[in-house]
Amino acid sequence: MTVATARAHPNIALVKYWGKADAASNLPATGSLSMTLDIFPTTTTVRIVDRDHDRVVFNGAEREGTVRDRVVRFLDHVRLLAGREDRAEVITENTVPSAAGLASSASGFAALAQAASTAYGLALDDRSLSRLARRGSGSAARSVIPRFAVWHAGSDEQSFAEPVQAPPIEMVIATVDAREKAVSSRDAMQRTAMTSPFYPAWVTSTAQTLESALEACRSGDLERLGRITETNALRMHAAIQGSDPSIRYLTPRSWAIFDAVAQLRGEGVLAWATADAGPNVCVISPPEHTAAVAERIGALADVVIARPGPGVRLQETDA
Ligand code: PMV
Repeated sequence: MTVATARAHPNIALVKYWGKADAASNLPATGSLSMTLDIFPTTTTVRIVDRDHDRVVFNGAEREGTVRDRVVRFLDHVRLLAGREDRAEVITENTVPSAAGLASSASGFAALAQAASTAYGLALDDRSLSRLARRGSGSAARSVIPRFAVWHAGSDEQSFAEPVQAPPIEMVIATVDAREKAVSSRDAMQRTAMTSPFYPAWVTSTAQTLESALEACRSGDLERLGRITETNALRMHAAIQGSDPSIRYLTPRSWAIFDAVAQLRGEGVLAWATADAGPNVCVISPPEHTAAVAERIGALADVVIARPGPGVRLQETDA
């Protein structure tokens, strides 16, 4: 095969990945747990070409600079695994509306891992594919997996994502600010690890938190999983804010959503909030409460509802 197309979706962590044990191969300091979404897919075609350089096209525009460099580094790793040197053309269509403020690196590198490994003739199982996607962007390891995924910490061999069962959950995604974040998650992670006095506590507590979250998943305890999700996100943001110079991703509007979610709980609606490295807030709830959550949060921000979605998949290549 010299051409392959794959599609993957973003994921949102319920127990967050924040900090690396090894930067070169993107090994996380702790394991994490996520839900893969059923919306905003990224579709990527990789075609082996008879040329002396790789070409990267993103949403119809040819890319140079750091975006291309990151893709080329990733392709170099695939070529190393395949024992090949041919160059490739990478064509990516990303449907995350820039206004949704969701990172596309997870779906992007999951789709690229599947398409590139197939085009270069590697037949990777899910574990190896997840380990490969991890090298592009840590959280991409989890977008390989459908619905709910645990991504293990550990050595290169051990650090892959795999499916876990979880209680029925949907997610209301609230866009607070769609602008590009001031500090990238890569830089902020490093600054947190180097300067935040709370980082060691984040690492030790998150390892324990993941165990509790997996127990809650096994026993179908939605309320426990929800509490863990919200607390873990706030601990991550506390560790980030403890950096020097400090980094603050959550804005007053983000906090207003956390407050509204707490208020909903006071009224008997099961809902818990989380937020990644930016001001947007995602709220998990059981399906029967999603409409109430969307209505309340919809008064504060633009919202969209996501359900557990598929893992990465090969597609028919057009033309
Ligand atoms: O995969 P990265 O390097 O974009 O980092 C993701 C970091 C968070 O989204 C904040 C947390 C997570 O586990 O997805």
